[in-house]
Amino acid sequence: MSRKTAVITGASRGIGLAAARRLAAAGWQVFSLSRTKGPDEEILWIPCDVSVEESVNQALESACTQAGRLDLLICNAGMGISGAVEFTSEEDAELQINVNLLGAVRCARKGAAVMRKQGYGKILFISSLAAIFPLPFQSLYSASKAGLNVFSDALGIELAPFGIQTCTIMLNDVRTDFTGSRKKTETGDEIYGGAIRASVGKMERSEQSGMTPERVAEAVFRLAEKKKLPAHKIVGASNQLLGFLYRILPSGLMLRIIRGIYG
Ligand SMILES: NC(=O)c1ccc[n+]([C@@H]2O[C@H](COP(=O)([O-])OP(=O)(O)OC[C@H]3O[C@@H](n4cnc5c(N)ncnc54)[C@H](OP(=O)(O)O)[C@@H]3O)[C@@H](O)[C@H]2O)c1
Repeated sequence: MSRKTAVITGASRGIGLAAARRLAAAGWQVFSLSRTKGPDEEILWIPCDVSVEESVNQALESACTQAGRLDLLICNAGMGISGAVEFTSEEDAELQINVNLLGAVRCARKGAAVMRKQGYGKILFISSLAAIFPLPFQSLYSASKAGLNVFSDALGIELAPFGIQTCTIMLNDVRTDFTGSRKKTETGDEIYGGAIRASVGKMERSEQSGMTPERVAEAVFRLAEKKKLPAHKIVGASNQLLGFLYRILPSGLMLRIIRGIYG
């Protein structure tokens, strides 16, 4: 019988690479869909830009033809922009939504078609706690991840009759190149009393002292092997507490707390 197969977008580095390595170590066949090649030969690289539909379709087609099956699709590729909304260019706003949200939509659309025919499969979306605790000066990033959560939930209902499950994994801070790759603008910082630089700087320090990508990879692996997926998964002990607070706190109070930390 052929090996279980996973396709991961953005496995050239960071969380995607750690997840790919964890799955490969357990015997899975793993394809990475990214613009650049990662360091490991055993992770099969297919060039792909998730912001381009044709590129996604060709890459997924190639992976599924080579493997003959698709057990797991992990929509992980992502990037961040930061800055005040009123000074965010149309181009950057579109880029943020195109890569993080529409990129996942394109992959899920193509992956779902394959999984529906075979009658099984799992689709994991790498989301962020910013989806439920929205971050000032990262409004579009937060919106892209909130969109991903809702998309995964609705898609999961659509695909359940075909044996396909979806799950969003909401992460807190992870130590990766994500921080250095962020597209930042501090335009208008003087108007906002220095809050843009202070808020994003705080977030960056928090990311760089965050958990390792290997810890996320372990959680992803457990979900990959699990029979029944939860709709949402928050990774990390303190994050469980945050999830609990999210469920019980009135939204006004929650936003005041976020304002106190990042406002
Ligand atoms: N790090 C954190 O603190 C954190 C927290 C919460 C959620 N997340 C989420 O976790 C995911 C992975 O982030 P990371 O921390 O591992 O960041 P990373 O180290 O910067 O890795 C990002 C990955 O996404 C790929 N990617 C970016 N744009 C792409 C595109 N247009 N087409 C295809 N691939 C693309 C990159 O590959 P190429 O450049 O080779 O294309 C790379 O492999 C993201 O969705 C991010 O939002 C991260």
